[in-house]
Formats: sequence, C-alpha cells, structure tokens
Amino acid sequence: MFKNFLKKLIRKCLRRFLPEILPECLPNALPNAMHYLPEGWHNGYNVYSHVFVDNKKLVHIGKGSFLNHNTGLYVGSGDAQITIGENVFIANDCVITTCSHEIGTSEKRAGKCTYNPVVIENGVWIGANSTILPGVTIRKGTIIAAGAVVTHDCLPDSIYAGVPAKKIRDLND
Ligand SMILES: CC(C)(COP(=O)(O)OP(=O)(O)OC[C@H]1O[C@@H](n2cnc3c(N)ncnc32)[C@H](O)[C@@H]1OP(=O)(O)O)[C@@H](O)C(=O)NCCC(=O)NCCS
Repeated sequence: MFKNFLKKLIRKCLRRFLPEILPECLPNALPNAMHYLPEGWHNGYNVYSHVFVDNKKLVHIGKGSFLNHNTGLYVGSGDAQITIGENVFIANDCVITTCSHEIGTSEKRAGKCTYNPVVIENGVWIGANSTILPGVTIRKGTIIAAGAVVTHDCLPDSIYAGVPAKKIRDLND
C-alpha cells in the first residue's frame, strides 16, 4: 500500500517537474528556453498538456487564465514580451508570437528577425486554432473566433473573426 502511494507520488512529481528540468539539463540549451508548461494550476492560472513556451521569462500570465492543449507562446531570442491578463481563456492549438522577419532577398525571404510585444487583456477568449501576430493588443472582454488570424489591435468587448480578423459585432453585457 505504502509502495503504491510512493510510486504514485514519484510519478506525479516527475510529470510535474520533468518538463521544466529536462530542457535545462540538455547541453547547449538556451537559458529558460524550450519549456512545455507543466499541466495544472501555477500562480493562479491553469494549463493543459503540451502548452509550449520558448522563453518563460518573457511570458506573463494573469490569475484565472487558462491555456488549452497544444497552444504555443513564442518570443524567439528577442526581448518583446507576451502579456496575458486575468481570466483569459486560450483554446487549443493557438499560436501567439512576438517574432517575425524582415522580407529578405529571394535566396532567403525570411530576413532579419523582428520582435514586437503582444498584449491580451483581461477576460479575452481566443477560439481554437487562432494565430495572434506580433505587436497586437487584444483589448479587454473581446472574443477571437476560432481559426482567426489577428494582424491588428482589437477593440474591447467585440467579436473578431476571419483571416485577417475583422470585427463582426459588439458585445454589450
Ligand atoms: C466566435 C463565436 C463565439 C461566435 O459565436 P456567435 O456570436 O454565437 O456567432 P454565430 O454562430 O451567431 O455566427 C455569427 C456570424 O459569425 C460567423 N462566424 C462564427 N464563427 C466564426 C469563425 N470562427 N470564423 C469566421 N466566422 C465565424 C458565422 O458564420 C456568422 O456569420 P453569418 O451571420 O454570415 O452567418 C464562435 O463561432 C466561435 O468561434 N467559438 C469558438 C469555439 C472554440 O474555439 N472552441 C474551442 C474550445 S473553447
């Protein structure tokens, strides 16, 4: 009985801490890079499996927020931050990125890297498979419909949908 309890405890600890520890043990790993956020509640926000953050020092997540399976938060090797407010719900398979490239020559179109911060204010809901591009601010209480690509700032308490995302209606509650 005690053995089983011990086994379960060890398994739980490994599941909780291994994703954080392992990348930092790898040779040549960048500091704080390549993290799958551990599942569960952390500092008041909730994470499902395979939520990827490439540098957790530049990502801030507020209380009551929730990130679903396979969502990725990318800041590359820049210093632009991703700021997620409180009670933000980000569905599965979303990409939020501060990184892009200048357009290069035809030999290499992905030119010099550029970085611009992303801000997602309190209460926002981002639908599944959406992409939030560098420099975007999504104001409070707004919904991003599933599959949208957000290229510009979004007004508060509105629904945006499509590629590129356009406002489709106001939300008055
Ligand atoms: C954005 C959303 C909440 C809209 O809800 P709603 O206001 O009830 O919208 P409706 O279903 O009444 O549709 C309103 C219009 O928006 C369009 N629309 C709805 N969702 C859309 C989407 N994801 N992309 C593009 N257009 C969309 C509808 O086709 C409709 O257009 P029409 O008036 O020309 O027919 C919902 O469609 C959505 O995308 N939810 C996200 C679901 C999701 O990601 N789930 C994962 C777990 S959270």
